[in-house]
Amino acid sequence: MNVAILGAQWGDEGKGKIVDLLTPHFSLVARYQGGHNAGHTVYVHRAKFILRLIPAGILHPGITCVIGNGVVIDPQALFAEVDELARNGVDIDDRIVISDKAHLILPYHRDLDLLSEARRGERKIGTTSRGIGPAYEDKIARRGIRVCDLADPAGLEQNVRDNVTARNRLVQDSTMDWKPVLDQMLKHAERMKPWIRDVSVLLTDAMRDGKSILFEGAQGTLLDIDHGTYPYVTSSNASIGGVCTGLGVPPKAIGRVLGVVKAYTTRVGEGPFPTELSGAMGARLRESGSEYGAVTGRPRRCGWYDAVAVRYAARLNGLDGLALTKLDVLDGLETIRICTGYRAGSRTIANFPADTGQLAQCEPIYESISGWDAPTKGLRRFDQLPAAARKYIARLEEVSGVPAAIVSTGSERDDVLRIADFGLRIAD
Ligand code: IMP
Repeated sequence: MNVAILGAQWGDEGKGKIVDLLTPHFSLVARYQGGHNAGHTVYVHRAKFILRLIPAGILHPGITCVIGNGVVIDPQALFAEVDELARNGVDIDDRIVISDKAHLILPYHRDLDLLSEARRGERKIGTTSRGIGPAYEDKIARRGIRVCDLADPAGLEQNVRDNVTARNRLVQDSTMDWKPVLDQMLKHAERMKPWIRDVSVLLTDAMRDGKSILFEGAQGTLLDIDHGTYPYVTSSNASIGGVCTGLGVPPKAIGRVLGVVKAYTTRVGEGPFPTELSGAMGARLRESGSEYGAVTGRPRRCGWYDAVAVRYAARLNGLDGLALTKLDVLDGLETIRICTGYRAGSRTIANFPADTGQLAQCEPIYESISGWDAPTKGLRRFDQLPAAARKYIARLEEVSGVPAAIVSTGSERDDVLRIADFGLRIAD
């Protein structure tokens, strides 16, 4: 059965670890959106790997790792990642497949990202400045450059020339030369060539042959371009619909959907965050959870678990199970709070609001639950958990409306409690 793993909060939920954990049950792992704004961290025997573009399944030998058409690819970032993996002894070359329809991030996209943020001033999004938004803008405006265009040097030259000229018009005093950009792309084309395929055909053939696929999401549902806290979102569909559009597979290909959530909430970049904790408790979560961006190093904003947001993600994605991460970060807290609803003035808000201004006005309705003293870090059996931690998990399941299939208790690959079999026979 094919399974989609996606973020059910604002990203950074720990998807990398969960993908790595479940990869041995699959033959292929396929990324469907985003770009190197993602930073999927995996620890294997204390060695730390940060995957940006390449699916986190790459750390398991023999698994084919697919980058779908919904992903935007910065070739330089891709090769840097491939080289780094190779230096760390991960054999990759015959295991990477890149969609011929994926769009490319060119150097001018990075400049335009910075420029657009500067122009927004106080209303900036807080992007990762990797050129993600401008590359997707070009895609939607039908002037983007795709991987398959690398095979047509004359067409590529025309596109690069037009796009660099358009960029020079946008950026004051800019005289970027299109020729070096083209030369660089042609060089990248040579290296990328062996990996380029029709991903829809590859995945369909794999399914026909009885192989199963793990679909890997990046960012999180609340950063989705359509369903997230717009405009403070990324520029792709991080929610379930992105699997079909970003890989060329039908909805029927998705067997189960696993939503990754932290035992609390974080957000990086700007935008409303109802349960944000600005004082000492926020700092406590940041320090014990090492909540600093894997890509940019920015400190993440931290807050309590927001069940309104997770219920919203559960509805949008049809979540079958939760993978609850970083439970151990809450070790030692006397009291833990869970946001079960929102209030705006005297009104109770039942659904996650579309309007960012309204969301910013929402006050969380909290319930308090006892914490636990005994450490949960590294525990691998559910019955070893302190009773209060088990109660906390049960309450999160209730208020989120989704059962927990997996609970992660530390950064290492095996620091995990497998609760439900999730159709994969993953239970102990
Ligand atoms: P962009 O994707 O670089 O355009 O950034 C848009 C918003 O999404 C910003 O608030 C970023 O901080 C956020 N964002 C993008 N990628 C990630 C991620 O992988 N984790 C968490 N936040 C992200």
